Amino acid sequence: MPGTREIRIFPDTAAIAAAAADEFARLKPATVALSGGNTPRTMYELLASRHNIAWDKIQFFFGDERHVPPDDPDSNYRMAHESLLTRVPIPEANVHRVKTENPDAAAAAADYAVEIRNAFRLSDGRFPRFDLVLLGMGPDGHTASLFPGTAALEEKKSLVAANWVEKMHTFRVTLTLPVLNNASNVLFMAGGAEKAAVLKSVLEEQHDPPFPSQLIQPASGRLVWMVDEAAAKLLKR
Ligand code: 6PG
Repeated sequence: MPGTREIRIFPDTAAIAAAAADEFARLKPATVALSGGNTPRTMYELLASRHNIAWDKIQFFFGDERHVPPDDPDSNYRMAHESLLTRVPIPEANVHRVKTENPDAAAAAADYAVEIRNAFRLSDGRFPRFDLVLLGMGPDGHTASLFPGTAALEEKKSLVAANWVEKMHTFRVTLTLPVLNNASNVLFMAGGAEKAAVLKSVLEEQHDPPFPSQLIQPASGRLVWMVDEAAAKLLKR
């Protein structure tokens, strides 16, 4: 099945979060890559109040992580932990985080790749097929921690990259494009007027080089964009 793309427009980010939580419940994913960001936080809080989800059957991963310890306010793990993972009965062994307390970002990335390989029982050269990957997009068109002009965009073999982001002067650890594009379902959440121009570029224009978010094209999966009216205001309807 070739990949498909669907764009769904909601009144506001609260409605995106609710629809994303519904989609999660409907898909019953066994493997999920979580994202950072504000809309996902609301989605996770909504999910945490659902009782009809078999939490112990889900393996949680992270699409990307900041180069900080897990208790840092910037940590994506901390956000997911507080908004979802501590609120529902998930065995600790089902949560696969990036060990970004390691001062060596490349070592943290390599360690996370091993964690994924083991959890998916992957042989060498194979990529995991996540049931669901959640993504956001920054106003510069980045997604996960694949920022414009960064080296990780070129990665073809590794599952995980330690990506130097010059404008932030930091490493980020991120899943790579071959992993993200091997997923069964990729769900982007993007809201707010500050995303309107880039959303139009990403969805309706061709750019050279492409924006990182334009490179998310699941080869044989579903790509769903959940956006709000403010972000969608420049799109052709
Ligand atoms: C992160 C994210 C990143 C995020 C976008 C959008 O770690 O920051 O994974 O890719 O999704 O920056 O963030 P917002 O949805 O909060 O605007």
